Amino acid sequence: MAILAAKGANSDAAMGAPVLVAFINDARSEETIKALVQEQLMTFTVVRRGNCRDAIAFMKNSASPRMLIVDISKSEIPLTEVDELINMCDPSVTVLVIGEENDIGVYRDLTLIGVSDYIVKPLTPEILRRTISIRMGGKQASHTRHRAGKVICVTGARGGVGTTTFCANLAHMMSEESGRRVALVDLDLQCGSLPMMLGLKSTVGFMEALRNPHRVDNLFIDRTLIRKSDKLFVLSAEEPLDDTTAFDPASLDVIFQTLSQRFHYVILDLPRHPGELYRRVLEHAAVRVILANGTLTSIRDTIRITRMIGREDLGQRAYVLLNHTTPHGRAEISRLDFEKAVGRRIDFEIPYARAGLFTDNSGQMLCVHDGGYAAALRQFTNDLSGRPQQTHSMIQRLFNRR
Ligand SMILES: Nc1ncnc2c1ncn2[C@@H]1O[C@H](COP(=O)(O)OP(=O)(O)O)[C@@H](O)[C@H]1O
Ligand SMILES: [Mg+2]
Repeated sequence: MAILAAKGANSDAAMGAPVLVAFINDARSEETIKALVQEQLMTFTVVRRGNCRDAIAFMKNSASPRMLIVDISKSEIPLTEVDELINMCDPSVTVLVIGEENDIGVYRDLTLIGVSDYIVKPLTPEILRRTISIRMGGKQASHTRHRAGKVICVTGARGGVGTTTFCANLAHMMSEESGRRVALVDLDLQCGSLPMMLGLKSTVGFMEALRNPHRVDNLFIDRTLIRKSDKLFVLSAEEPLDDTTAFDPASLDVIFQTLSQRFHYVILDLPRHPGELYRRVLEHAAVRVILANGTLTSIRDTIRITRMIGREDLGQRAYVLLNHTTPHGRAEISRLDFEKAVGRRIDFEIPYARAGLFTDNSGQMLCVHDGGYAAALRQFTNDLSGRPQQTHSMIQRLFNRR
């Protein structure tokens, strides 16, 4: 059986993405892989002598393959290099690592950062065939889960509490600092401000996709997403104000599923239009972020949104963030009173940033201009990715103090 041809390999090849990319240090392993490629009649493969750094250099100019094999036996900082390599690829890529160290610790560390399997040399045809078969759709494949990107839905308890600013900055930070591939989706299909905030123009196609979800595939993604950087892409619309933007909310499932195969994070800016779409997106997203400011109306609607979301399923998480969009004033409701009224803790507090209006009108990022805003966002992203919180420097503590 052609193991790698099983799912979508032909369409990948048609789109210019290799089925398999391998960078291997020794001649014997290289021959083993090449023999398997011939045996399996794989059409578009890249099998070369090299190490993790060579693979990283190659991936800078290549679409993500279905499977990536990399040899770490000559690498001095294998974990760091493999992590960098993984962050360059779509989450759906299966990554196999080959090395010389027979150590369960190495295996555990590698799988923690997203590697599918670690094979200790010598690499034999049987081991390779079996591993690929398990990972790529053989009989035992049902036991292994494909990695998929996380969907993060952000909504404001009220309008004007800084939701779009937060989405744009979060996406910028995740793509620039963590090197993750991020898709940013503006669900306000008529008056969205995300593209403008990022200095981009909306393209056509999103609305058509929502009306015809069966047409959504990788080609659609490549055509319709606007590229902000190598790692950050935006999906938005600017439908005429007198048009109706009705569509079946189930269409979004198809779009999110496709996006989460290609991006590590899919960030949704969800406008406050309560209804089926609003509820559905909030209920389904893995991470729900409710942004509020220190006002009575924010308190009322934070209570209503958290109540509507209800209990969290396994793997889901809801955050309540208090964003200070105005300079600290006595009229503002304090964090403590907010928490008492809402009946839950605020997960993170975002300080007032003076550069807010400036960045709105210049296409620049608030987190680049304001250390306090950046530090608060970093706390949030660390929590999301399960990284321990850093001890704050004195400057950060000063910025965070209110
Ligand atoms: N932490 C903050 N400090 C200062 N201004 C902020 C902060 N967060 C957002 N803003 C400003 O608040 C205004 C409204 O933000 P926006 O993101 O458009 O809100 P929303 O999407 O919730 O309607 C913008 O001018 C933005 O720059
Ligand atoms: Mg907005």
